[in-house]
Amino acid sequence: MKEDATIWISGTMHNIFSIGQILTELDFKILNIVTWQKTNPPPNFSCRYFTHSTEQIIWARKNAKVPHYFNYELMKKINGGKQMKDVWRLPAIAKWEKLCGKYPTQKPLSILARIILSSTKKGPWILDPFTGSSTTGIAANLLERFFLWIDIETEYLKISKCRKLEIEHKNIFYKNRNRLFGFKRPKQLEWYFSKEQVLNTHS
Ligand SMILES: C[S@@+](CC[C@H](N)C(=O)[O-])C[C@H]1O[C@@H](n2cnc3c(N)ncnc32)[C@H](O)[C@@H]1O
Repeated sequence: MKEDATIWISGTMHNIFSIGQILTELDFKILNIVTWQKTNPPPNFSCRYFTHSTEQIIWARKNAKVPHYFNYELMKKINGGKQMKDVWRLPAIAKWEKLCGKYPTQKPLSILARIILSSTKKGPWILDPFTGSSTTGIAANLLERFFLWIDIETEYLKISKCRKLEIEHKNIFYKNRNRLFGFKRPKQLEWYFSKEQVLNTHS
């Protein structure tokens, strides 16, 4: 990671505390813990606990002394003019996101789009070393960022490849970009793109 890079790690209550501990031991600075509130969580069949309906996403930066990038203004804009909070209530995954096959833990594009827009400029490299169906990568490419993927399971990479090929069709690219949640009208997103800061280097 570059010195001013940030990392996003999603987890559940089963592992998020250990991840936080490890990041602190590695001298990362934790910036936020975002809570994704799922609108349709699976029911709890044991009926002995509250239904698990959230996931936590840690946002941290590599170097405590080097400032990070945060697109505060855009987040405020897509939150109706009010500061964006750290609880995100976002719709569940839509059918059009699953046309390349079923992947058990696929995240909605809307979450990754918000993460990417809030913490990167146009043009940098984004790495997901646990890419799965590559939601990070598809959101990154739709938002004009470069993407590098890694996954131990070749089966999953087939889904990723299919999703990547899907958005190589210009009409699907624009259609899916306009479906990213948070912008009321497609024009709003295009307006934003025309204003967005571009990172000059590919590093
Ligand atoms: C929770 S899923 C990621 C889902 C992804 N965010 C999405 O929306 O499709 C985690 C992925 O990490 C991969 N994985 C697990 N251990 C790995 C390892 N040691 N190296 C690379 N990938 C690994 C799994 O195969 C799985 O696809």
